[in-house]
Amino acid sequence: MSAALSTSPDPHRRTAFADAVTEATGLDRPAIEAFLRAFYGAARQDPLLGPAFAGVADWEAHIAQLTRFWCSVALMTGEYHGQPMRAHAHLDLAPEHFSRWLALFERTACASFSPEGAGHMLDRARRIARSLEMGLIPLALPASPRRPAPGDHP
Ligand code: HEM
Repeated sequence: MSAALSTSPDPHRRTAFADAVTEATGLDRPAIEAFLRAFYGAARQDPLLGPAFAGVADWEAHIAQLTRFWCSVALMTGEYHGQPMRAHAHLDLAPEHFSRWLALFERTACASFSPEGAGHMLDRARRIARSLEMGLIPLALPASPRRPAPGDHP
């Protein structure tokens, strides 16, 4: 994912894309950073999500990294070079964490942005959350039915 976010074409096209998104949705760096502060303020208080964030030692560094991530995702600024899958690998996340994260993200986005801005962020959040969840949580496949052994009665 990081490669896809950091290999967008030339800087002029990136700026043109960011300007077009800002014009259509109101999203820009200050709005995204303010949203992230509100979202993570709420996530830290959440009984299900909060404990996962207890290990974050430097919140300003975390918000700065997430601002780079979301500006790359939403405005295609190409400035994020991290590895989200690896950052979550040790957190033991379950499907409930993802549903709660998305519900909180949606609520905060709707309160922070125009409907177009919230939609732009939410489309991307849902797609990325799905791919993170699929990468991190092994599928619970049902056990295959037992083959009848010789001598079994029907
Ligand atoms: C399911 C619930 C989630 C929890 C509990 C969670 C928690 C965390 C934690 C604890 C970190 C590490 C912070 C640090 O030590 O600095 C982190 C990093 C990060 N998270 Fe999540 N996360 C969740 C879902 C998501 C989703 C759905 C996304 C994206 C849509 C996301 C994007 C990121 C990014 C970009 C980073 C920074 C990775 C890096 O350092 O480059 N997270 N998250």
